[in-house]
Amino acid sequence: MFKSPWQRHKDLISIHDFTTDEVEALFQLAANVKARPERYRNALAGQTLAMIFEKSSTRTRVSFEVGMYQLGGIATFLSSRDIQIGRGEPISDTAKVLSRYVSGIMARTFAHSTVTDLAKYATVPVINGLTDLLHPCQGLTDYFTVREKFGHTKGLTLAYVGDGNNMCHSLMFGGPKVGMNVKVATPEGFRPNPEIVEKAKADAKAAGTTIEAFARPEEAIRGANAVYTDVWASMGQEAEAQARVKAFAGFQVTPALMELADKEAVFMHCLPAHRGEEVAAEVADGRWSVIFDEAENRLHVQKAIMLLLMNR
Ligand code: CP
Ligand code: NVA
Repeated sequence: MFKSPWQRHKDLISIHDFTTDEVEALFQLAANVKARPERYRNALAGQTLAMIFEKSSTRTRVSFEVGMYQLGGIATFLSSRDIQIGRGEPISDTAKVLSRYVSGIMARTFAHSTVTDLAKYATVPVINGLTDLLHPCQGLTDYFTVREKFGHTKGLTLAYVGDGNNMCHSLMFGGPKVGMNVKVATPEGFRPNPEIVEKAKADAKAAGTTIEAFARPEEAIRGANAVYTDVWASMGQEAEAQARVKAFAGFQVTPALMELADKEAVFMHCLPAHRGEEVAAEVADGRWSVIFDEAENRLHVQKAIMLLLMNR
């Protein structure tokens, strides 16, 4: 019988909840799943994943659905517009009902509390597929991609440039777990959530790594091994998009900025990308870019996540 190294976890809500060893166990399994997918073909045979979406998605929806199929199970897509949540059925009832049908729940929501409430009331594993606060599956995949590109993560530096959003938060939580330093450059008024920064800094201190904040992208990028950016207006912030384009002037990741990074540096983005806003097309599609490897790795890493939480 497979003994999951994530035995003490029912859910994946935040990278912050996991130890370095647990993250490393995930990466090793994800690398095996990627190299030998046929070995895991029946690992979740007969299991089902409910996927609740309050927001749009290309990568998360398709990679979880395909991943579940490749593991021998099926996934069912539940738009919040179509299920009773959208008409006011309590999250607690939804969680309890779904737990009677399915083996796991993945949810993408606005409020972070929706995902934590689902986890509280569901008896099956709940996986956070992005909230306004965090995007752990993407953050874990990104560090897995760094490990793949450089052969290791320890001592490397990731520079995050742009909005102090859900992506920034999950990258700050992930850095200390994989022995990496994180340098964050945001415009005034778009800094990451101070509570997240405080927790990430405590994790970094314990891990012997650093989390640093800067006001200019140049300061964060200089010498970095990975340069990361994300959209300036996240899902739910569409009305602010125009104002944000002004506020983020000078924060576009350009070839000139990439030249300040380490000469082997990679460019990373969770996607979707807006070329000409947060990143120049010459960078997104240039020699530094690993954006499509990140997208592919969502599949392998999430298959490993489902195995660790659901194959018990
Ligand atoms: N990166 C990511 O989560 O993409 P989607 O919004 O397409 O799922
Ligand atoms: N910060 C972005 C990430 C999308 C994957 C958003 O929340 O829209």
